[in-house]
Amino acid sequence: MSRKFFVGGNWKMNGDKKSLGDLIQTMNAGKVDANVEVVCGAPSIYLDFARSKLDQKFGVAAQNCYKVPKGAFTGEISPAMIKDCGVNWVILGHSERRHVFGESDELIGQKTAHALESGLGVIACIGEKLDEREGGITEKVVFAQTKVIADNVKDWSKVVLAYEPVWAIGTGKTASPQQAQEVHEKLREWLKVNVSEAVANSVRIIYGGSVTGGTCKELASQKDVDGFLVGGASLKPEFIDIINAKA
Ligand code: PGA
Repeated sequence: MSRKFFVGGNWKMNGDKKSLGDLIQTMNAGKVDANVEVVCGAPSIYLDFARSKLDQKFGVAAQNCYKVPKGAFTGEISPAMIKDCGVNWVILGHSERRHVFGESDELIGQKTAHALESGLGVIACIGEKLDEREGGITEKVVFAQTKVIADNVKDWSKVVLAYEPVWAIGTGKTASPQQAQEVHEKLREWLKVNVSEAVANSVRIIYGGSVTGGTCKELASQKDVDGFLVGGASLKPEFIDIINAKA
C-alpha cells in the first residue's frame, strides 16, 4: 500500500508576522511535489494569520490543544477553536510538551481522543530520551507511548505518528537513516500486532529531529520513513527541499 509522503513544519515559538509572512511567501512561490502532504505548525496566536496567507495546498496545524471543547481553562485552546480558524491539524505529545511542560501520557491520550472526535487530524509524537536509548530501552519507551495514543484512537486515517528521538531534536544530531528505519519498522510491527495489519500498512510514520536539506534524502529513502516533522529547518527556504526529498 502506498502511503502519501507527509512533511510537517513545526515553527514552535518562533517568528512574527513579518518573518512568518516572508516564509509563507517563499512557500507559496516554491515548487513543491504535488504528491506530498505538507502541514505547517504555527503558534496559536498566528493560526488565523497562517491559514489566511498560506496557499490552500498547504495544511496548517496547531502545536497543542486542550482535551475539552470549552470552559474555564485559562490559556488553553480547544480543537473547536482551531477548526474555527480553518485549521485541520494539531501536533500532540511533542517532546517539549512532555519534558518542558510535564504533560503525561494520560493527558496526551485524552487530548488525542478529543482532537480526533472534534475532527482534527493528529500528528502524535513519541520518542526516547538519550539515557533511555543508551540504556537499551528505546523500544519499551516508544511502544508504551504509542499504546496510550492507540488506546485513544478509533479512526487511524486521521493520525500521523511522529517518531522524534529527544536527543535529536534541536541538537543538530540527526538519527542515522538506519536508526530511524529500525524504530519505524518496529513501530509498524507493533501496530500490526496491537492494532491491525491494515493500520500498520496505512499509517504514516514520520521522523523528526534535526532534519535538514542535507539529511532528508537518505532518510526519505528508508522503507518505513513516510515523511518528516521539521523544526528549525521549517523556518528556512530549505524546507522546500525537505518537502521535495522524494522528488
Ligand atoms: P528540529 O525539531 O528539526 O529543530 O530538531 C524537530 C521537532 O521538534 O519537531
